[in-house]
Amino acid sequence: MKISDPYQALLTISTEINAMHESESLLNRVMDIAMEAVNAERGFILLKSPKHPDSFEAVTARNISKENITSIQEVSSSVVNKVLESGEPLVTVDAQTDERFSDAESVMIQNIRSVMCTPLIVKDQLIGAIYMDNRLETGQFDEESLKFLQAFATQAAIAIDNVQLIEKMQSENQRLKKQISLSEAFPEIIGTSQAIQKVLQLIKDVADSTATVLIEGESGTGKELVARALHYHSSRRDHLFIPIFCGSLSENLLESELFGHRKGAFTGAIENKAGLFEEAHQGTLFLDEVADISKNIQTKLLRVIQEGEIKRVGDTKIQKVDVRLICATNKDLWKEVEAGNFREDLYYRLNVINIKMPPLRERVEDIPLLADHFLKKFSIQNKKQLKGFTKEAMEELKKYPWPGNIRELENTIERAVILARGTYITADLLQLNRSLPEISLVGKSLKEIEKMAIMKTLEATGYNRTRTAQILGVSRRWLQYRLKEWGVGDGD
Ligand SMILES: Nc1ncnc2c1ncn2[C@@H]1O[C@H](COP(=O)(O)OP(=O)(O)OP(=O)(O)O)[C@@H](O)[C@H]1O
Ligand SMILES: [Mg+2]
Repeated sequence: MKISDPYQALLTISTEINAMHESESLLNRVMDIAMEAVNAERGFILLKSPKHPDSFEAVTARNISKENITSIQEVSSSVVNKVLESGEPLVTVDAQTDERFSDAESVMIQNIRSVMCTPLIVKDQLIGAIYMDNRLETGQFDEESLKFLQAFATQAAIAIDNVQLIEKMQSENQRLKKQISLSEAFPEIIGTSQAIQKVLQLIKDVADSTATVLIEGESGTGKELVARALHYHSSRRDHLFIPIFCGSLSENLLESELFGHRKGAFTGAIENKAGLFEEAHQGTLFLDEVADISKNIQTKLLRVIQEGEIKRVGDTKIQKVDVRLICATNKDLWKEVEAGNFREDLYYRLNVINIKMPPLRERVEDIPLLADHFLKKFSIQNKKQLKGFTKEAMEELKKYPWPGNIRELENTIERAVILARGTYITADLLQLNRSLPEISLVGKSLKEIEKMAIMKTLEATGYNRTRTAQILGVSRRWLQYRLKEWGVGDGD
């Protein structure tokens, strides 16, 4: 023990290490001070692993190569484990003859003579240990050096604990700042889950490029919302964003919609008509349900992407267009390629940037936020003074698997708001368990299912047609028409 005035040394050390705010340099300093004080040959510090709180990992080491840290930990396990288990420091003058290690193979193998190990304890919690040894000399460490090391370890443990806390808060702070800035950039896209934050970051990164984007995700996960966000965060925002639903149109109609046609190109083409590619010039064209387009149109689409030009149906004139393409599908487009339904070369052209929308059941933590958002929106729309959800209602929202994702959540809350009489949305208003069992739909025609849905909703709203139309997302006129068709009521 070389320290002439251990008290003065401790004071200097504790002042120094308490001023350090970065864990790596702090741990290095702690290691060096300890090694120097007791003149150790090798040493390492173990701390609780942040990922596996039940295990310890070496965070800094001296005269032991990084690769050997794990093996040293293993070979010195007899010593380290004793300290970690008992929480008591340990010193041995000659480990080879120390009967505490008589059956410890590691001490023998390593030929370790002097060993010293002190636990790092803060607020009665063991957070780690400082281990040092000397392989050649016996009697290197004595009780006095152990006493010093113990006092030092007490100071060091507090400093380490503080720095870890500061770093944890700093990284949490950074994460929150990033989340706030992303949420501010995309106020219409609600969600703090990592899954949705990743999507927001990606939108931010690629919005301003001209690369095509393929958005994949189940129905109702927000694909169109993201496509719009991409457009409105790009320099194309002052031009048009045109969505087209490819799934519902016949091949010929889709072709003339996209590329336009020349007068007389086919029966019904009574005038020259510009296609959406022309209309969306300098803007964004959003091809929804892109998996459904025919091979013929796939080929034409490939041409537009490769050449940047289009030809109206029945025309020979070629026109240059500058359009950014965003596509969406709720199928796995690659599977469609494998099944031979979708051109592989087009797939690669459309999938330059890929955004996968997470289903709502994989981000349950976003449900309360989304639910509150829709509650506000529909309360305003329906002029209702609703304060929130009862505890049970919120539990049900979080428990439900949401096969229809956010759209289903949105519709559920809209319906609940319309039906609500009190100031809170109660669980029964959500009607999550009363939804029609799927089995009863099997074997029915779409017409029958439509009628069931309409009649059930009429029942639920006390035969209020305006509300029924709102809930089903149809116009009141359309509803009247259906009811008249079935001879239900006399139309009000
Ligand atoms: N993160 C979100 N925050 C707020 N509203 C959202 C969010 N995601 C989706 N929505 C809303 O949910 C509804 C469905 O979203 P959208 O139409 O974009 O889904 P989609 O994936 O295109 O569905 P589909 O596959 O059925 O076409 C929309 O009203 C949209 O505004
Ligand atoms: Mg959509």
